[in-house]
Order: sequence, then C-alpha cells, then structure tokens
Amino acid sequence: MADLTSPGISVSRREDGIGAEVSGVNLSLPLSSEAFAAINEGFERYRLLVFCKQDLSVKQQVEFSERFGRLEKFPDPKDQAEGYETVLRVSNIERESGNIKPVDDPGHKSFTLGTSSWHIDSSFRTLPSRASMLYGKEIPAAGGDTMFADTTRAYDALPENQRAELHGMTVIHDFEETRRRHNLPPRSAEVQAATPSARHPLVTERENGRRALFIGSHAAGIDGLTYDEARALIDELEALANAPDCTYRHKWHSGDLVMFDNICVMHQALPYDLVNTRRLLHRTTVAGEKPLARVG
Ligand SMILES: [Fe+2]
Repeated sequence: MADLTSPGISVSRREDGIGAEVSGVNLSLPLSSEAFAAINEGFERYRLLVFCKQDLSVKQQVEFSERFGRLEKFPDPKDQAEGYETVLRVSNIERESGNIKPVDDPGHKSFTLGTSSWHIDSSFRTLPSRASMLYGKEIPAAGGDTMFADTTRAYDALPENQRAELHGMTVIHDFEETRRRHNLPPRSAEVQAATPSARHPLVTERENGRRALFIGSHAAGIDGLTYDEARALIDELEALANAPDCTYRHKWHSGDLVMFDNICVMHQALPYDLVNTRRLLHRTTVAGEKPLARVG
C-alpha cells in the first residue's frame, strides 16, 4: 500500500529488506515541483527508490538526475554514454565497436572486480557523492542483478560499545585498492594523481539522523590499524550489512531506474556471463557538496 502520495505518484515501502518502489510517474517528462517533492521526500525517508518501466534517453536521465544537484563528470570519453560526460556506461560492451570487452583487459578486470564487491561509488573522492542513479539499457537473460545494502541498519545492529569504538576511526579510500588487492598492474602515475586517496570518518550521519558506515571496496586502510586489522574489521562490517533485513536484490529489466543514497547504501553487481552476454547500465551520480560529518 502506498505510504507517500502526490497526485498520480505513490511511494511504497518494500515489504522485505530496504527501499521503496515508486509508481505513477513518467521520468521522461519534466517533473512538476509537487512530483519532485514527493520523490525527494521518499528518497530522504527510504534512501533507495526503484522506478520500473521507464523509457529514458540519456538526456532525460541527466535532466531527472540534475533535479537532485550537480552531477559528477566522467573524463574518459570511452566511458561516457553518447558523449555525455555526466553519464557513465557501466558495461561489458565497448562503446566504439559494440563488441564485448576482453575479460583479461586490466581496466575492465579491475572495474568488474571492484563493482562485484560491496562498494560505494566514488568513495575515494574528498567530497563523497550524494546519490547514484542506475538505469537498465541492455540486460542479460540471467545474472547481473545488483545487490544494495543499507549500512544504517548494520550500524544499528552493532553493540553499543563497538559503535563507540568505531566513531573515532578514519578510513582511507583509494581507487587503486582493488587493483592492489587483486595483483593487477597499477594505473599510470599521472592517472593516479588525478584520483588521490581520501580520508573519511568510518561512521557518519545522514540528513534523516541515521548513522551509517562508510566502507566498501575502495577502503584501503584505517588510521592506527595494520592493513590486515583494517581489512578484517571492514569485512566484518560488510558481512553485517549483508543480512536480509539490510539488503535489496534488484533483478534488472530494461527501463528500470534505481536511485540510491551513495553514502549509506553500498552496492555490488552479481556475476553474469561476461563473455557471451551483454549488460549495459547508465549511471549518473549527484556530487557531494561537503565532507562527511563525524559523529560522537
Ligand atoms: Fe557502482
């Protein structure tokens, strides 16, 4: 049953796990301020919204996403959808040729390994991103679902003494971490310099007052802990966030759009046949405007 409504729009909390489903809106059309307010209120409350049966051009996805703020840019033209620098192709298909990418290409391998682990998009940025939108374009018949996990629920499940310990911790997020962990060759020094690592509090607070764990696959260490100690703690927290009541599994259909809080919601792509099937999602990401606040 709908629990938030605006004329024509309903936002219904999912019955199991996290998030809400939005119906009665055509995102290809300009949103009235009333419709936008209903969606924004649903997003503030549920942190993950699912819109099905949409039919969006790249431009229309950009226009919808920009209602929530400035969008991040993706500098490499081969990653951009239709030349839009704010739309990232999340795919195993080469843009130019339309062919499936070689699975052993280090860049593609690193991307696949990174996105198939729990992660937070761009968590290595100094100003973490507020929200990401993924839109389904080409979907494999089997596999390639996306899992989402709300870390505010994982935080709530922690014993109080452990929460207090985590409040003081600072996590280093580094884009190179996936390559290092899987023994892939590093990116060039010049490219690395363009994406330096960033330090963030392990625990932060969202606008709705909920406390979140800022972790994921770019987490490369915790100040004051050895690498192994840090990795063990991050793995333990990620496992906690993997519980059924913290998660949602989205089975993609072409035309689905999933919008999620990119600070308290981690995500990961589930395996699919990278060699024989094609998968293309378009991602837009709303930039963050301030550093994460520390709690406690
Ligand atoms: Fe991602």
